[in-house]
This record gives sequence, structure tokens and C-alpha cells, in this order.
Amino acid sequence: MEKREKLYEGKAKIMYATDDADLVIQYFKDDATAFNAKKKGTIDEKGIMNNAISCKVFEFLGANGIPTHLVKKLSDREMLVKKVEIVPVEVIIRNRAAGSLCRNYGVQEGKILSRPIFEFCYKNDAFNDPLMNEDHVVGLGLATEKEVARMRELTMKVNELMKKFFLALNIELIDFKIEFGRFKGEIILADEVSPDTCRLWEVGTGVRLDKDRFRQDLGNIKEGYQEVLKRVTGK
Ligand SMILES: Nc1ncnc2c1ncn2[C@@H]1O[C@H](COP(=O)(O)OP(=O)(O)O)[C@@H](O)[C@H]1O
Ligand SMILES: [Mg+2]
Repeated sequence: MEKREKLYEGKAKIMYATDDADLVIQYFKDDATAFNAKKKGTIDEKGIMNNAISCKVFEFLGANGIPTHLVKKLSDREMLVKKVEIVPVEVIIRNRAAGSLCRNYGVQEGKILSRPIFEFCYKNDAFNDPLMNEDHVVGLGLATEKEVARMRELTMKVNELMKKFFLALNIELIDFKIEFGRFKGEIILADEVSPDTCRLWEVGTGVRLDKDRFRQDLGNIKEGYQEVLKRVTGK
């Protein structure tokens, strides 16, 4: 497998082509952004930590019946993945209130939701990733009704699996964002699962172990990622 040209550089990762048209390399950077890139910075070694954490989570999900894009971890910062056509929606699940749910609906941070809230947002920075419902997703042609149903089914399973996965590490999964893509006619989990894309609170203390430390200038930002890495990899 040979690394070829850069295909796309995003806010947190770079995608490279390979000599196999079905595979790309996802390279994790240290760059951090928040509030649709209005806040920018870097977190030392974040790329290394997020690659390692994402690989572990994808391995776990894959072993539990969730189709993912992971092929294998190539290096500290590189993951070999199946090249998908990204469905341009962000899929969010919330178990407790935080972030935009609190801002938009005046809910107290940490409120336990009486059932998980499933959200779609339009993956489009120019429009500020607006919240949308299933009718928007289908009506705008972003995904078919069948794909929407499949994304919901997989996301609910991912939530149950990841809640258990993190709870075993004494971490509560507050919410997360995932992305799906199309690969040979199938919907599979793509992108990353890391403290950039999940809210993770230590059980008991409520200590934030995720990107909220960066968003809210809570300090010890790298330490939060390191703690998750340590627990996820058992090292
Ligand atoms: N398996 C994949 N195949 C193709 N594109 C992918 C895959 N996984 C993730 N992507 C896309 O690659 C980009 C990853 O870089 P990122 O820094 O997250 O970008 P962005 O700033 O657009 O969120 C994202 O646009 C994501 O949707
Ligand atoms: Mg992204």
C-alpha cells in the first residue's frame, strides 16, 4: 500500500489517496477548532491520541456488528480507511444535556434526558451546521429514507455500545457526533470517535475529559485526552 496525493485537508485531519482506489489514509493533526472554527488552537499530540482512541473504538464497534471504515492503524497519526462518499450530515446522540442543546433550549447542563435525543445537523460550515430533521435530510436529497433509517438504527446501537465501553472505564458518555458514508452500496461508520467528537465526563467527579476543556478554557486540555487514551488503551 502506497501513500499518494493529499485529497482534502479539514480542520482536524488530512485525507490522502493510496494506490488502492477504495482506500484512503486519514491523518490526524493537532489542530483544534470550536464554535465552527471561530476558536482555533493546537493541542500537543492530540492527533496521536485521537488516532489511537478512534482505532480502539472502531475496533470495538466493528467486533460488535457495526460496519466501520477502519481497515487498520498505520502509524501514530495515520489510519487506513475505506474511502466512502460522506453523507453530508452530522449525526448526534445526546444522553445528557450539554453544549448547543443547553444554548438552544435553555436546559441545565447535565440534565439526564428521559430518552436519548437523536439529531441531524447539515455538515456545512458555511451555514453553521444547522440542526435539521429527517424531512430536511430526505427532501434536500442528502440521503434516502432507507439510509436515514439505517443511520438511526446504527447510531442507537453505537450509543448503547459506547455507553457500556466508556462506563467500564469509569467514563460517562454524555453525547457524541458521528458521520456515515456510502461504501459499495452500504452505509458504514466513518470519520473519527474521539474526545473531539464525544463529551466524556468522569463518573462520580464529573471531570470533563473532552474538547470542552478547550472550548471553555478549562485548562489541562492535553491531560483530558491523555486520560481517555490511558483508559481506552489500558496503558
Ligand atoms: N472514510 C472516509 N472516506 C472519505 N472521506 C472521509 C472518510 N472519513 C471521514 N471523511 C471526511 O474527511 C474529512 C476529515 O477531516 P476533518 O478535519 O474532520 O474535516 P472537516 O473540517 O471537514 O470536518 C471530513 O470532511 C470527513 O467527512
Ligand atoms: Mg471533521
